[in-house]
Amino acid sequence: MKVEIWAEVEVVHRSFPPAGRLRGTEPLRLAGELGLDRDLTRQALTERRHRSQVQEGVRRARLPGAAGAPFTVVDGRYGVPGAQSGDALLDLLRTAWDETHPSSKGPTAMSYLLHIDSSSLGEASVSRQVARSFRDRWPGPVVHRDLAASPVPHLTAAGVTARDTAPSRHTPEQAGAQALQDELIEEFLGAGAYLFTVPMYNLSMPSAFKAWLDQIMVVDRTFSHTGASPAAGRPALLISARGGSYAPGAPREGLDYLVPTLETVLGHEDLLGLDVTTVTPELTMAPHAPALTSLLPLHEASMTAAHDHARALATAFATRAA
Ligand SMILES: Cc1cc2nc3c(=O)[nH]c(=O)nc-3n(C[C@H](O)[C@H](O)[C@H](O)COP(=O)(O)O)c2cc1C
Repeated sequence: MKVEIWAEVEVVHRSFPPAGRLRGTEPLRLAGELGLDRDLTRQALTERRHRSQVQEGVRRARLPGAAGAPFTVVDGRYGVPGAQSGDALLDLLRTAWDETHPSSKGPTAMSYLLHIDSSSLGEASVSRQVARSFRDRWPGPVVHRDLAASPVPHLTAAGVTARDTAPSRHTPEQAGAQALQDELIEEFLGAGAYLFTVPMYNLSMPSAFKAWLDQIMVVDRTFSHTGASPAAGRPALLISARGGSYAPGAPREGLDYLVPTLETVLGHEDLLGLDVTTVTPELTMAPHAPALTSLLPLHEASMTAAHDHARALATAFATRAA
């Protein structure tokens, strides 16, 4: 959830007549009052570096009806003018949260399950169907992100460099890239449990999932070189359907580059440190390929085991996340 408080007009009006404009060294004096670096402020004003961000901010603030300041905007959609009591602001935050997280309505105080899908196949996806068994037993709130329907952009140069650049020096591209990372990281860190559906594509993960992972893997935000990840120990279920089999003894044993990679990134104590359980419904091509008919019983047994395991884990995770 993103909360913006528009207060600059009020500050200007407190210091200057409403009709006046900031001239000469007044902006620098005002920057000093606000605790901003004077040289950086002068440079930013001379280069008009933040012009497009300010114009975009003003445009967005007008959508929920901002006409003066202070003006509080939540998620770019809910706006309240003027000074507000703590209770009024809390009501606004609750309304915005329930609107974007419908399943969080209700009496439960559980932290939410972050459910991330990445199969391109929508409802036909086996991974998603197994996830449904988990969800049917999950009693708490859910935040769902479908990376196939709403892909996260690939990490750009602006996104990488924004991480090592002071926000006051961000270009508009870096500021935009950083805002996306912040939103995804906040969503990730706010969860108490995780459900990832990541089918096997070309022995590895779908690029849609990798793009999300690259956005949220930020040192000192989601993992650290010196300590545990803030999400360490939280339960996670990784569901990865695959057309073939990579189980011990199968001809393709050892060629699964998805599960070992994701179990490491998601679960290693130096990385996200989640407590990962993996379920791999396999041989999903068997019902569709006549050459694989003899493998149908193995596929069906794998499906039954996957659904049963998912249901059992939902109950176990719910107890831990409560
Ligand atoms: C682009 C693409 C690549 C695939 N590559 C593999 C593969 O390397 N190995 C495999 O066993 N199955 C492969 N499959 C089959 C899928 O893993 C299988 O259809 C699985 O059920 C997909 O998961 P889903 O049903 O959750 O979408 C591939 C499917 C697609 C669409």
